[in-house]
Amino acid sequence: MAISNGHPTNDSQDEIKVISSPLALPNGVVIPNRLVKAAMAEGIGLGGGTPREGHLNLYRRWAEGGWGIIISGNVQIDPRQLASPHDLTLPSHPSTLQAYTQLASSVHSASSSPLLLMQISHPGLQSSSTINLSRWPWESAIAPCEDRPTVSEGPVGWLWSHVMWPTKSCRIVNINGWMEIVNKFVDAAVLAERSGWDGVQLHSAHGYLLAEYLSPLTNPDPKPLPDVPGSIPLRLHLLYLILKGIHDNTEKRFIKAVKVNCSDFVQGGLDEEQANDIIKTLVSWSLLDIIEISGGTYSSPAFASPESLRTSSRQSLFAHFTTSLLPSLPPPPTGPAIILTGGLHDRQVIASSLNERACDLVGIGRPACLFPQLPNEIILNSKLGDGEARVGGYPIPGSDLMKIILGGSDPKEGIKLVGAGISTLWHEWQMCRIGRGTEPDINMHWLSGALIEEVWFEVLKGGPMGWWRYWRG
Ligand SMILES: Cc1cc2nc3c(=O)[nH]c(=O)nc-3n(C[C@H](O)[C@H](O)[C@H](O)COP(=O)(O)O)c2cc1C
Repeated sequence: MAISNGHPTNDSQDEIKVISSPLALPNGVVIPNRLVKAAMAEGIGLGGGTPREGHLNLYRRWAEGGWGIIISGNVQIDPRQLASPHDLTLPSHPSTLQAYTQLASSVHSASSSPLLLMQISHPGLQSSSTINLSRWPWESAIAPCEDRPTVSEGPVGWLWSHVMWPTKSCRIVNINGWMEIVNKFVDAAVLAERSGWDGVQLHSAHGYLLAEYLSPLTNPDPKPLPDVPGSIPLRLHLLYLILKGIHDNTEKRFIKAVKVNCSDFVQGGLDEEQANDIIKTLVSWSLLDIIEISGGTYSSPAFASPESLRTSSRQSLFAHFTTSLLPSLPPPPTGPAIILTGGLHDRQVIASSLNERACDLVGIGRPACLFPQLPNEIILNSKLGDGEARVGGYPIPGSDLMKIILGGSDPKEGIKLVGAGISTLWHEWQMCRIGRGTEPDINMHWLSGALIEEVWFEVLKGGPMGWWRYWRG
């Protein structure tokens, strides 16, 4: 193995070769290299709506960065059901097609021309009416069950939960309700294709609606949905109908991807054995080109563990799962390519994960907010030795204080919504900075991010426009 002395060695060159090798998908599309900018809600804009200038600037920077694939932040299929007030949505308005076409063109006109996937999504019971203001506070989120997320333990956490979700989610009981969801996902994919995107990724992880449907905790008693072959387990009916609908209504070259959890990391939720069976069944349908593996929910956000940044983690959060799963799956292009995301921020670890087939592609989230050109400038930069070709070990200034203020009982605890939410917002503010043409700032104090990026630039300056766009439909 290369020594971490900052000088490139023969091993570093071999690693770069592995990471830069192209990969063919089952639908024949070739990905230029193995690095995927993972889906991250950009936090740009207010009140939902379509891409703005800030998105164009941000995506242009990523497009110039040497990524093989860029996956958008979650684009909500229903403008009333948001995960954050800054989410992109698909309002039924003629300007929607134009706005997404412009974003796709800005990515495709970059010289490295990465593939661009739209992550289409529904937050399910995690959609807060009071934070997003996209519906009246007393109007519930929708889900396969009646529930509300846990913010953190203790009375402050209880209070935040009830402020953010004044009512429990409303359970979708009839088939028509579920078929409406299927149609919205399929329509979103068709719009993505018409706008020139290369494919879609269904967000079926992190406790979102599609993940709630897969989980025994949130969907204890799934009912059969129409036109699904009898051999398909009930819990997979919704995903099957959406994927089949997209398959039947888009071209073969349009990439179909899904992001799933290897575990929900909550008692009674999806566990690794069940996730293993689900992924094998998904692969058997031959409808998918890419499957991304993540884990956790808003209440237990393992996917965004702040510890993996602090410690300059040298291993993936979920590799133990994929290493045992992948030998039983056909490799691409016969089967779908597997993306592993979470904590993979180091050239050596990325290369060894690919060499050991813990994955076929590597998803990178948080570091892409600080280093939009991470592939070209760091991971694939042959002038850097392995010791330098990694990102991590950066604390978020002020985050421990904020955890205490917001009721995260133990500042070191990384798996509750408060801790992950603080880290997520800080990274969103870095993307906002890139969006308005300013460089990211790794030393930005959390409170200065909150005041400058959130309150000033987003709410006070971006607010009225965002709201106008939303109410105009
Ligand atoms: C600011 C931010 C926004 C995110 N938004 C999304 C999202 O919209 N959809 C999604 O599937 N995951 C989202 N994630 C999770 C990332 O895709 C990824 O799974 C996670 O950050 C772990 O990867 P990392 O260790 O490389 O950061 C988000 C993460 C961050 C930090």
